[in-house]
Amino acid sequence: MECELRIKPDKHEPKEAEIVKGTEIISVPLIPLPKPFLERQLKFRRANIRFFMTREGNHDFAVHVGYMGTVNPDGPSPINIAAKGVGLLPRHDIEELAAEIESLIEEGMAKGEKETREKRLSFLLKLYEQIELDPYSFTTIEIYAKTTWRNIMHDPRCSVLFSSYRSTSFLINGVTEVLGPDTQEYRFVTGIHDLFHLPRSGERRRFPAVYRIWAIEAYNRTPGPKAGEKIV
Ligand SMILES: Cc1cc2nc3c(=O)[nH]c(=O)nc-3n(C[C@H](O)[C@H](O)[C@H](O)COP(=O)(O)O)c2cc1C
Repeated sequence: MECELRIKPDKHEPKEAEIVKGTEIISVPLIPLPKPFLERQLKFRRANIRFFMTREGNHDFAVHVGYMGTVNPDGPSPINIAAKGVGLLPRHDIEELAAEIESLIEEGMAKGEKETREKRLSFLLKLYEQIELDPYSFTTIEIYAKTTWRNIMHDPRCSVLFSSYRSTSFLINGVTEVLGPDTQEYRFVTGIHDLFHLPRSGERRRFPAVYRIWAIEAYNRTPGPKAGEKIV
């Protein structure tokens, strides 16, 4: 049986998620992502873009990849893990920003990858320097709709490991909201993807959905004295 996820009271100030499966409802409290997690995300996303612009300075591309674990108790192995490219959402004006991104992509496809690289990277840098980002969730694109997809249809709970050799590693446990092409989140997330990886074919690819993962717990996963400690 498939699940429905309700974020309550609303997505701007979320307090709990209800996982609805037939007549059964499981409620899980939602939390803001830990400050050190968000700080590390912003610090290295800015540094990574500056690195792409100048080839200078520190970078840590690991901030972009989370290893997402989902469950299927009836499967041959009850656990599945897949790498997923991770992004952050703005707290306000998702739709307006998505429209701006879409016009930059169009311009990029019309004028060329190299010719528009500086402008596209500057937009991304502005996003991480000036725009308030949502502190409760992060996102990823489901590209293949295989095992992770099947698992979260039955249970949206997930664990996402952010592992780094250069700074703190985190485990974020969360619940997954599935958002299709008719949503503002889908437009924003796939737009950011295409703005960076400008489609070479001249046509934008359609993905099955994006996931918005709402945090429910966070742990330190760095080796050392704080290894395994619960942060929130
Ligand atoms: C660095 C890296 C980034 C990846 N990013 C994504 C992604 O953003 N979305 C995605 O669906 N798969 C991504 N993949 C592929 C997944 O690891 C996996 O092969 C795919 O999601 C299918 O896994 P599943 O059937 O367990 O869901 C990525 C793989 C690597 C190595």
